[in-house]
Amino acid sequence: MDNVSAFLPSFLIVLFLSTHVRADLPGTWELLVPDAGIASMHTAVTRFNTVVLLDRTNIGPSRKLLPKGHCRFDRNDAVLKRDCYAHSVQLDLKTNQLRPLKILTDTWCSSGQFLPNGTLLQTGGDLDGFKKIRKFEPCDETGSCDWVELNDVELAEGRWYATNQILPDGSVIIVGGRGSNSVEFYPPRKQNGAVLFPFLTQTEDTQMDNLYPYVHLLPNGKLFVFANTKSVMYDFNKNVVVKEYPPLEGGPRNYPSAGSSAMLALQGDYSTAEIVVCGGAQYGAFLMRSVDTPAHGSCGRILATGSDPVWVMEDMPNGRIMGDMVMLPNGDVLVINGAMSGTQGFELASNPCLNPVLYRPDQPVGLRFMVLNPGTVPRMYHSTANLLPDGRVLLAGSNPHVFYRFDAEFPTELRIEAFLPEYLSSDRANVRPVIEEVPEMVRFKGKFDVVVSVSLPVVGIVEVNLASASFATHSFSQGQRLVKLTVTSAVPDGDKKYRIGCTAPPNGMVAPPGYYMAFAVNQGVPSVARWIHVS
Ligand SMILES: *[C@@H]1O[C@H](CO)[C@@H](O)[C@H](O)[C@H]1NC(C)=O
Repeated sequence: MDNVSAFLPSFLIVLFLSTHVRADLPGTWELLVPDAGIASMHTAVTRFNTVVLLDRTNIGPSRKLLPKGHCRFDRNDAVLKRDCYAHSVQLDLKTNQLRPLKILTDTWCSSGQFLPNGTLLQTGGDLDGFKKIRKFEPCDETGSCDWVELNDVELAEGRWYATNQILPDGSVIIVGGRGSNSVEFYPPRKQNGAVLFPFLTQTEDTQMDNLYPYVHLLPNGKLFVFANTKSVMYDFNKNVVVKEYPPLEGGPRNYPSAGSSAMLALQGDYSTAEIVVCGGAQYGAFLMRSVDTPAHGSCGRILATGSDPVWVMEDMPNGRIMGDMVMLPNGDVLVINGAMSGTQGFELASNPCLNPVLYRPDQPVGLRFMVLNPGTVPRMYHSTANLLPDGRVLLAGSNPHVFYRFDAEFPTELRIEAFLPEYLSSDRANVRPVIEEVPEMVRFKGKFDVVVSVSLPVVGIVEVNLASASFATHSFSQGQRLVKLTVTSAVPDGDKKYRIGCTAPPNGMVAPPGYYMAFAVNQGVPSVARWIHVS
């Protein structure tokens, strides 16, 4: 920018700048909560339309107190031995009200996943949380559900910067973590042991780059695991790598190199799955503690289920680290949050990336990315993005500092916002479906009907798509997947109503058991979702 401004006439600079803040770019922003009290490092949406936000415990005073009589005593806490501040809160999406939750052990850089019965399983962290297993059984907004820390069982190995993924049988695999190049399961398998996973050792370099590995459950029941620049298809039952993919060019992508990844929507006969990995820091930025090394914007996409697949490369409109990739209900991928320079870690990034971009997987290479309306709040290290049941995307956190700091260039961020993709704009309201009838639970392979109403006559297919509720942390949504159901065309069924015949996912490899947000999608415009249990 400085080089450019040195020799461009000023009217051109004005023109250039004004194109960056054009109000007519798609998407709008809403401020939901001016002060959440905590900066969310980990965020998950529950089937009661509440959101669990979670920071770490040893961070000193937050801006939200625990209820009277609920202080936490921890003689090992370096900051507050008697801590009366909340480090987790529940947000009610109906009222935007917050309720403090009580977490006891340190959840710094931990991991999580929803279990088949809707309970959030949360594992690991730092210090006293290193081997901890916690559960949160969500409740509606009138309830008083809270974190429960298990005392009868702990992780076989400490897990700091690990990734969790729910499996076809409803158990959870916990992959990697700092100093733990192994996997383990919940409930525990193999006499409570951890199983060495040499791939994580092979992908560890001097700046780590194998932390928070990208783990995706493929529809063939194997895991796609990406660390550093490498990826494998992993049979976790036999503990064998069944396929090695070619390395992804453009440098390391996992922590601290700060890329992101998503599995594109599963559809059709569910025999294929494509993985996208986007953005990242230049190698060495972390070692040199460089705040201003430009990030790159390179994305790779691979047919993970192919026989001899290669990465197809494409560049985002701008470089980005710490971007979150959020699967939207229509199958597009929103890339949001992050920065354009530096790397992951405390005080290590600059140049916030305020404009989201939309990745449209079905467009030809070169036309897939669309720049969206920029926001105003930098969301860098320790920030999150989650799809909400009404199609908005919730943005929380950002705290590039060891403690809460409000007098910095990039302060600890307590505001919660929502980004509204263009499909929520008022000029698309007349094609927006409303779900009138949907079952609360379906069985694998089961047939069921969804009834929707739409203002304008429906032409063509109304999709019914299931979105998982993921555990978002460190620019990756653990357990994120979108499953497009096989549907019949929409048959008129009374006043502006349509009946759609749906087939539930065939098995837990396509859709692990649990609660999903079921969206009807008409011409790319999603309904408000209804939660549906799949088993
Ligand atoms: C959900 O499943 C977990 C793990 O099996 C269990 O600990 C918990 O009690 C269950 N919750 C409910 C409400 O059944």
